[in-house]
Amino acid sequence: MKAELEKLQAETLQALGRATSVAGVESLEIEALGRKGKLAALLAGIPALPPQERGGIGTLAAEIKQTLQAAFTQARATFSAGSRTPAHFDATWPGARPTIGHPHPVQMFLADAVQFFSRLGYAVADGPEVETTAYNFDKLNIPPNHPARDLWDTFYLKPKSANLVLRTHTSPVQLRYMENHKPPVYVISPGRVYRHEATDASHETTFSQIEGLAIDRNLHVTDLIGTLQAFLNHAFGKVKTRVRPHYYPFVEPGMDVDMACLICGGKGCSVCKQSGWLEMLGAGMVHPNVLKNMKVDPKKYSGFAFGMGVERLVMLKYGISDVRHFLSGDLRFLEQFTH
Ligand code: FA5
Repeated sequence: MKAELEKLQAETLQALGRATSVAGVESLEIEALGRKGKLAALLAGIPALPPQERGGIGTLAAEIKQTLQAAFTQARATFSAGSRTPAHFDATWPGARPTIGHPHPVQMFLADAVQFFSRLGYAVADGPEVETTAYNFDKLNIPPNHPARDLWDTFYLKPKSANLVLRTHTSPVQLRYMENHKPPVYVISPGRVYRHEATDASHETTFSQIEGLAIDRNLHVTDLIGTLQAFLNHAFGKVKTRVRPHYYPFVEPGMDVDMACLICGGKGCSVCKQSGWLEMLGAGMVHPNVLKNMKVDPKKYSGFAFGMGVERLVMLKYGISDVRHFLSGDLRFLEQFTH
């Protein structure tokens, strides 16, 4: 009987050590100490014992009951609300892997683009996001009251007399860079830009561009198109592109480069506005007036420039159907780009 009581205590404490919930503790308690439990069954055998053994067994049984009750009380407290340490806590178990962040898909694309153009010999420049109207418009051949300012409606900072805007494009960096550099120049400038937009699947108020500027002797449109095609082939593999004439006051001639919409396979969808094509970037040969504003002689040098819409490129790369996902902060979207 003594051995059986000790075995009951040892087995019950072991089982309690493996319990993972209050319910588990309670069912063990009923099993061991309940009215029809194992201890009660053993105690039912005491009257059959020789009288000299009974007293010692009764005392041992009372001690075991007390030990087990204390253990059950403690185990219940451990699992009660707020406690996170299970009764079977084992310090040698591997820990839970902490969640670590990763770059935003736009940042990953930018980093790759910077690497690509660096390999072609381009420098990388930065510029202010709060820009003067002189750099954002005037020096880019867009004088006050020129209708082209409507193309880049933006956020003006107060007071209006300060002539400060959130830059609508990265093109002002061209001018800032040329204040300290002389041709030949090959430079890109990635960064955030802002527009007062009615947003839709392909238009955001805050997005990113990569500006490119090359000024050298004998640069031609073919150099521009070749450079852009090389970059698009690098970023997407072989892709279908088309070049359309487009008016930008700071280039002449100017053009837009479209890519076949990879989201709908060129059939037409809400992202490409049912056209099958998505405008990726504006580009052209730097306008002589802008070269003069850069203190570059248009008779000696020519230049090309481009401004890519980064979110649009990333959308096509990953088949993202709405540009508004990028700044939504929605982890269900962002966690798909952990590499
Ligand atoms: C410009 O911003 C010119 N600065 C580009 C340029 C640079 C032309 C140098 C010539 C020489 P545009 O407004 O078209 O151009 O914008 C360039 C690209 O930004 C577009 O092709 C498009 O891919 C992207 N983009 C424009 N508006 C939005 C928007 N609201 N949301 C997301 N992407 C946009």
